[in-house]
Amino acid sequence: MTAPKKLFIKTYGCQMNVYDSERMAEALGGEGYVETKVAEEADMILLNTCHIREKAAEKVYSELGRLKPLKTVNPDLKIGVAGCVAQAEGEEIMRRQPAVDLVVGPQSYHRLPQMEARLRQGEKALDTDFPPEDKFEEMRARPKARRAPSAFLTVQEGCDKFCAFCVVPYTRGAEVSRPVTRVLDEARDLVARGVREITLLGQNVNAYHGLGPDGVEQSLAQLIWALNDIDGLERIRFTTSHPNDMQDDLIEAHRDCPKLMPYLHLPVQSGSDRILKRMNRSHTAESYLRLIERIRAARPDILLSGDFIVGFPEETEADFQATLDLIESVNYGYAYSFKYSTRPGTPAAERAQVDPEEADARLQRIQALITQQQQNIQKEMVGRDVRVLVEKKGRFDGQMVGKSEYLHAVHIDGCTAAIGDILPVRITEAKRNSLAAIQRT
Ligand code: SAH
Ligand code: SF4
Ligand code: F3S
Repeated sequence: MTAPKKLFIKTYGCQMNVYDSERMAEALGGEGYVETKVAEEADMILLNTCHIREKAAEKVYSELGRLKPLKTVNPDLKIGVAGCVAQAEGEEIMRRQPAVDLVVGPQSYHRLPQMEARLRQGEKALDTDFPPEDKFEEMRARPKARRAPSAFLTVQEGCDKFCAFCVVPYTRGAEVSRPVTRVLDEARDLVARGVREITLLGQNVNAYHGLGPDGVEQSLAQLIWALNDIDGLERIRFTTSHPNDMQDDLIEAHRDCPKLMPYLHLPVQSGSDRILKRMNRSHTAESYLRLIERIRAARPDILLSGDFIVGFPEETEADFQATLDLIESVNYGYAYSFKYSTRPGTPAAERAQVDPEEADARLQRIQALITQQQQNIQKEMVGRDVRVLVEKKGRFDGQMVGKSEYLHAVHIDGCTAAIGDILPVRITEAKRNSLAAIQRT
């Protein structure tokens, strides 16, 4: 018997890449690869990349430069680039870094086994097509290994919204939803392997409109209700949503569906209507705030999170102030803010850029406000009873770590529960990035 070949995958970017990396590992598992956490011992290294900001994309090239010398130690080593940089830059990657053997875009992962075979014959392989076949269906390997209690499940991919700053519609292609039955089958399979929480993924997950078994399209809310019926599945989440696709049935599900968790990531990007329009977001600050009101009326304790871009072309101090005002009125449990990064080929790249120092200063101001809100909400949790899905052992003896309904990381000292248990606890302390709790009996 020959020793199994080893695969090292490094994942950048969003949760969809995390999900895709798992699928790629499964696909190559069928070709005799086992995963390793040590790049030095790998026979194949895959970088699953992100193109959303310039920094994310540039990181890939410096990583490739670091990995290249490994090829002199192991002449059989193959290096591949997958993900959104692969889609956006294609062949250019091999030109810039000749050590790269394989470039594969997000819609072609099911072709990895054939591509791998070509690499073994000394060829290079490039595939950045948007093929007509369903990659998820083609990749339906069914490994029976146990899984961590929380898993991602991609239900929708791509985006048709074309926000003026964003590469996703180009790197992930047009919006596509997976059929309901396939999603439910995969969810049941995950549950059979120990999963208790599923986060449904999509670049615009709430635009989901997958075909039901009767050939009629179903909404995300309908899909969530179907998942709610799966025994052993205890928690359902979804991300990322667009404000324009937040339909009534989804808001009602947040009120009525027992397994749907009280957490919603709903990016707004800016609080200035002028900028929102220039971003091609087709919602206003006011319509967003109204929407938040309706969501909170349905589920008063829901924890909201968002994304913000500062220093978008033409953003003035007044526009930025409007964003701070919006944040003040929403009160976010979590929020992610990014300095605008020019992406070649997107409409905003052509416009008057904000002075980088001014953009840096705004980023610091927005982050200070967000941190303050985040910490206040964490402090308000002290004394409250929540239920924690236990995910792993903590740093200290007898300590376990998991997530509350609100997605707060919670540490429980002297914990008798096992990984995968859902444990009632009382929050005792708010730390910087997590909460401490004691087990209730
Ligand atoms: N589909 C999601 C998120 C896509 S990318 C949505 O519509 O909200 C995640 C976040 O990255 C975005 O919400 C945005 O805040 C940020 N982002 C996208 N393009 C960017 C750019 N060019 N510069 C800075 N931040 C960007
Ligand atoms: Fe990008 Fe906008 Fe689509 Fe989100 S909705 S993925 S920000 S284009
Ligand atoms: Fe990045 Fe692609 Fe996700 S650009 S954020 S990895 S969809």
